[in-house]
Amino acid sequence: MEQLAVSSDLKEICDYYFDGKGKAFRPMVVILMGKACNLHHGKSRELLKSQHSVGMIVEMIHTASLVHDDVIDGSETRRGKITVNKIWGERKAILAGDFVLSSASMALARLGNTTVVSIFTRAIEDLVRGEFMQLSSKETENERFVHYLEKTFKKTASLIANSCKAVSILGNCNSEVQEIAYQYGRNLGIAFQLVDDMLDFTSSTNQLGKPTAADLKLGLATGPVLFACQQFPELHALILRHFSSDGDVDLAWEYVQQSDGVQQTCYLAHQYCQEAIRQVSMLHPSPERDALIQLTEIVLNRHK
Ligand code: FPP
Ligand code: MG
Repeated sequence: MEQLAVSSDLKEICDYYFDGKGKAFRPMVVILMGKACNLHHGKSRELLKSQHSVGMIVEMIHTASLVHDDVIDGSETRRGKITVNKIWGERKAILAGDFVLSSASMALARLGNTTVVSIFTRAIEDLVRGEFMQLSSKETENERFVHYLEKTFKKTASLIANSCKAVSILGNCNSEVQEIAYQYGRNLGIAFQLVDDMLDFTSSTNQLGKPTAADLKLGLATGPVLFACQQFPELHALILRHFSSDGDVDLAWEYVQQSDGVQQTCYLAHQYCQEAIRQVSMLHPSPERDALIQLTEIVLNRHK
């Protein structure tokens, strides 16, 4: 973000989360996928550089979306730090998120590949649509689960899937390899979010760097609650009123703990990881392909 001479506050806010302490999960997936795909078509210094840029772009888009998300959720901590909105206020947080997004757009334009630009435009559209979907809810149990999985794809998996596809396109891979890259990212991304939703019930605030039971407090019914509702239909009414009555959050938490909701969410994440492995195994063997397979274990076993 070299053009950030604008205002010292803006620079400080934009730099705030780029402190090297994030998981950098998305850039890692993208760079490994780029290298695994390049075996299918050859590599050059230029190509590796452009794929590295995709890794930075995906992290910038993700970070911008988190800065906005913390405003929407009114969150006070992220990655073990006070959020931008709490330190600098919501107005500056929104603007800083926009600025990081504009820097990502500039880096994207510099790649000079219009297909890759439209792929990222789609991913950004999905981020917004996914976040919007989260604000609405469905009446019936079946509709609710379909809505939850579609939201999960748009909010989390689309960006990973599309950036995996972008590096395969830059590597001039054929459409079959592009689809494998996309499907790996899609399945891994959905599993990643399912685990995230699970950790909201199983991890401690200290481990996560953000408060637990946060989703319930925001009125959101994620995987563990939706599964628990199959065993405890009493949850239905609580979900419909977004856990807004006194004691709802604690009650829902108890139902989830007494149910198999967490295990079933974990099992579903497992299935998505199996599909991610099946997809990526169709690429030529390479250490990077093996690392992508191992990443599914890291996603399933992570604690933060
Ligand atoms: C985290 O969700 C949020 C996201 C993964 C996406 C948020 C997307 C937007 C705010 C749309 C705007 C997008 C851009 C590019 C500016 P969470 O609340 O479930 O996770 P958390 O517990 O980490 O906050
Ligand atoms: Mg949030």
